[in-house]
Amino acid sequence: MPHTRAAIILAAGQGTRMKSRTVKVLHAVGGRPMLAWTVDLAKTCGATDIVTVYGAHSPAVRDAAGQLGTATALQDPPLGTGHAVLAARDALAGVEGHAIVLYADTPLITPETVERVFAALGDGASVAVLGFEPEDPAAYGRLIVDSEGNLDRIVEFKDASEAERAVRLVNSGVLAAPAPLLLELLGEVGNDNANGEYYLTDVVGLARARGLKTAVVKADAGEVLGVNSRIDLAEAEAAFQARKRRALMAGGVTLVAPDTVFFSHDTRIARDVVVEPHVVFGPGVTVEEDAVIRAFSHLEGAHVRSGASVGPYARLRPGTDLGPGAKVGNFVEVKKSQLGEGAKVSHLTYIGDASIGANANIGAGTITCNYDGYDKHRTIVGEGAFIGSNTCLVAPVTVGAGAFTGSGTVVTDDVPGDALALTRTPQTTKAGWAARFRTAKEARKARKES
Ligand code: UD1
Ligand code: MG
Repeated sequence: MPHTRAAIILAAGQGTRMKSRTVKVLHAVGGRPMLAWTVDLAKTCGATDIVTVYGAHSPAVRDAAGQLGTATALQDPPLGTGHAVLAARDALAGVEGHAIVLYADTPLITPETVERVFAALGDGASVAVLGFEPEDPAAYGRLIVDSEGNLDRIVEFKDASEAERAVRLVNSGVLAAPAPLLLELLGEVGNDNANGEYYLTDVVGLARARGLKTAVVKADAGEVLGVNSRIDLAEAEAAFQARKRRALMAGGVTLVAPDTVFFSHDTRIARDVVVEPHVVFGPGVTVEEDAVIRAFSHLEGAHVRSGASVGPYARLRPGTDLGPGAKVGNFVEVKKSQLGEGAKVSHLTYIGDASIGANANIGAGTITCNYDGYDKHRTIVGEGAFIGSNTCLVAPVTVGAGAFTGSGTVVTDDVPGDALALTRTPQTTKAGWAARFRTAKEARKARKES
């Protein structure tokens, strides 16, 4: 078996049905562009030579593919899928291993499925095609299999006879072959067909004409869903979410109402975490064992350590790190801040650009005033400090370990450890004032009404 694997990712399509200024394959599923899903798939399957084929209309695809670490090849003008693979010919020069053609608008194919396609080559096929049986075979290319089960050829819908159109096994588009053979066969492909295009699919018939073995590998229809419109994009998203929910639950995470919780491609949640209904995980979230994410919370770029509790109705923004057993309660927003072990921020608070020591208690309504309109400044609260309700911490400022701030205090100067900071004016109390006020007001009202 060859040691190297190559992948050609086709992404030169126009994607006009998305009706978007953003090129189709850069739209996201699970918070990650579809192109990145496909590149990741190729890498996971061990492809070391990866080429993304892009069109003249989409330099954004070239740039994104470059950033993802793939080579790029321009196909201009686009003359069909076979022509697109040939555009990668230079980038594949000298590649001896097996090559697979993938599609940047088909984000749900699993590494296991790609492994089965490569395995068919390992078992002696010269060309292996990923097929499926959709409920509605629509305009997909039909896989024509002979009586011995060999894949004879692929017929595009437009070129197919009535009998061929009745075939239910169709082409996903994914196709693998040894790289040199693939390029050689593509050199023989013509464009004498209903579309006047150079069809990648013609390599199957050409391989058979040489007496080579070909194979079909079957996939679930849901896995090979191609995205052409926003409706397809939502379907792909739903399929990703369903898959992610099942994987997390299988890994020991309790999802009380799985269909109401939304994840990103990279969400990591450890066992015995409980996620209540209606929670959204944006990119970059890790939750450690035994933590609880309560209802209606929104997390992104956050690390929630073991036994911590978040929500209900909490918002954790990028750069949040909650220590073990820490608590972030309702209507609390945290950004770019670390909370030490056992620290509590229970109600109605904004903590931004701050470091909160272990076991500190942040009272209801506390705000870190971190932004002066130009720069962000840090707030440091020491271990075991007690921040009174409705404190404003005007950054940059430090409250030492074990210090207190009185309710309503506006902290502008550093507070030493174990001190009390207080900025309230002393209270005045006027005995009987309210009763006198009411009597006067009632008398005035009675005069007006009479
Ligand atoms: C293709 C297959 C068909 C299969 C179907 C699955 C061929 C000839 N037909 O048909 O058998 O059932 O996919 O969806 O391969 N592309 C380029 N350059 C081109 C043309 C296409 O990069 O010149 C890319 C597109 O961006 C797209 C993919 O190739 O991602 C498939 O192209 P598309 O035009 O959608 O092919 P289909 O006609 O759907
Ligand atoms: Mg298509």
